[in-house]
Amino acid sequence: MTVARLTIGRPDDWHLHLRDGAALAAVVAHTAAVFGRAIVMPNLKPPVRTTAEALAYRERIRAATPAGAAFEPLMTLYLTGTTPAAEIDRAVASQAIIGVKYYPAGATTNSDAGVRDLAEAGAVLERMQELDLPLLVHGEVTDPAVDTFDREACFIDRVLAPLVRRLPRLRIVFEHATTREAVAFVKDHAHLAATLTPQHLLLNRTAMFTGGLRPHLYCLPVLKRESHREALIEAAVSGSPQFFLGTDSAPHGRSAKEAACGCAGVYSAHAALPLYAEAFESMGRLDRLEGFASQHGPAYYRLPRNHGTVTLVREEWTVPESYDFGSDRLVPFRAGETLNWRVAEDAP
Ligand code: DOR
Ligand code: ZN
Repeated sequence: MTVARLTIGRPDDWHLHLRDGAALAAVVAHTAAVFGRAIVMPNLKPPVRTTAEALAYRERIRAATPAGAAFEPLMTLYLTGTTPAAEIDRAVASQAIIGVKYYPAGATTNSDAGVRDLAEAGAVLERMQELDLPLLVHGEVTDPAVDTFDREACFIDRVLAPLVRRLPRLRIVFEHATTREAVAFVKDHAHLAATLTPQHLLLNRTAMFTGGLRPHLYCLPVLKRESHREALIEAAVSGSPQFFLGTDSAPHGRSAKEAACGCAGVYSAHAALPLYAEAFESMGRLDRLEGFASQHGPAYYRLPRNHGTVTLVREEWTVPESYDFGSDRLVPFRAGETLNWRVAEDAP
């Protein structure tokens, strides 16, 4: 049976890049139109390292959000080798910081200030465990000897498993999980969770090379082979509360993507919910979309569910070739292609 409409509780995006300045102004409306909340990543230049910086960034996001949108940015701190444990106390006291993001130094966009060795952050992580502030991890090793496609699985063995043994009560979100190893590790640890992106649910690595090199499908962690995609989509539709929506929508201007050394990041905020609907429908499990998009995340982060609903309607629309992006253009996921699901605004 094909469904023509699907109404779900208003969803949240548990992993989002909003950038700053003109880029922020260009993208925030896409997310705010559909999602009640989003966890905003702190990898700005310079990174958002302190509670004070996060609160100031939150104000800039609010100022850039269209009037009338009931959208709440949930803020994160960027973990460095010199983050003091007292920053965790300030973060928790502020009630504005939902977690701390761990980027292995050099793993991805604006991660140079990240952590070289987690031992540097021992006291901070202990304080996070004590105060029950989740750690959000970019799960890839940066060892140049490790093949790009193996970096996530290697991270589990070298970094994550030892960390979980050392701090067994620290809640950890495995961001943008891309491998069956990550899915298995999360399932084995009930206090862990993972976000899953639309591109990793819909595509395997062959898509990056179909008909030529596709820079707009390049993100980190990079797309993996089909058997990994299958593990991810099975986890997404399984109904397990450990897996929830996090787009990792990561805007870069066209000139930075279509370049000899292109930036990593897929922009999906313009069509996030329709893309997830497509993925869930491919498994015949549209009935599980609401849990994934609107219920598992709040439960993990111990927040109430949003008020209100959104409705997906089965109606074709064509994704624009590009969007305004300050002085550049932004090429979105599925640019110029037709999607089968569209979001219709419900009454608030
Ligand atoms: O592809 C990515 N882009 N992966 C990340 O981890 C960071 C993000 C970005 O900020 O552009
Ligand atoms: Zn990200």
